[in-house]
Amino acid sequence: MTAPRPWQSEADRLGHADPSDPTGWFERLWSSARSGDVTTPWDRDDPHPALASWTGAPAPGLATGTAVVVGCGLGADAEHLARLGYDTTGFDVSPAAIAAARERRAGSPVTYVVGNLLDLPHEWAGAFDLVVEIYTVQAVSRSVRDDMTAGVRSLVAPGGTLLVVQAATGTADEDGPPWPLTRAEIEAFGQDGLSAVSIEELAGPGSPGRPGTWRAELRRA
Ligand SMILES: C[S@@+](CC[C@H](N)C(=O)[O-])C[C@H]1O[C@@H](n2cnc3c(N)ncnc32)[C@H](O)[C@@H]1O
Repeated sequence: MTAPRPWQSEADRLGHADPSDPTGWFERLWSSARSGDVTTPWDRDDPHPALASWTGAPAPGLATGTAVVVGCGLGADAEHLARLGYDTTGFDVSPAAIAAARERRAGSPVTYVVGNLLDLPHEWAGAFDLVVEIYTVQAVSRSVRDDMTAGVRSLVAPGGTLLVVQAATGTADEDGPPWPLTRAEIEAFGQDGLSAVSIEELAGPGSPGRPGTWRAELRRA
């Protein structure tokens, strides 16, 4: 049996394979991982540090309301929100990713479902008190960036909160995947009734002076 190939080089290849289908490659990548051809992509069990430090250390189980994690992958962030007490949904465009999340998080209270940010169910419009989007928008080519951003905004309930974490860039011409976000692109989450509470650029580990990570918190009135 041959060892699985690193998923990163497969993502580089697939991410450029068909510009007319900017999200189709995710299912191909996750399926290759499920069949053991490549290593597991975006493999982590701890919440992203920018989410963990934002939620702080409240008493587990005390949060109320609904939460959704966009492009949830293996579900580490969704599990974190569920532990805090949110009634949590995690969705991903890739059925193979959702199958992997359900398998890894067997017994979890999180609802893991297949869903496409570019074609969301009507009933999800304004349905979530907390929306967490980490690295999905940057993973998809700029050709659909405005639509991806609008999809994220549409999920936030009246009075709800959106937390966005993305790699930062100073220029919009970098070749991806991923395609990091400029300040203007992160500010674009603040439309359609959403306004920014804070936009921070967190330093990347060990890379002083280089573009870091955006963490933006937004609210709907
Ligand atoms: C870079 S990975 C990040 C995964 C996870 N959020 C994390 O931080 O570990 C991007 C994820 O978004 C999913 N994705 C890409 N396009 C999507 C879309 N249009 N709707 C929902 N999920 C999408 C991919 O399948 C993939 O799991």
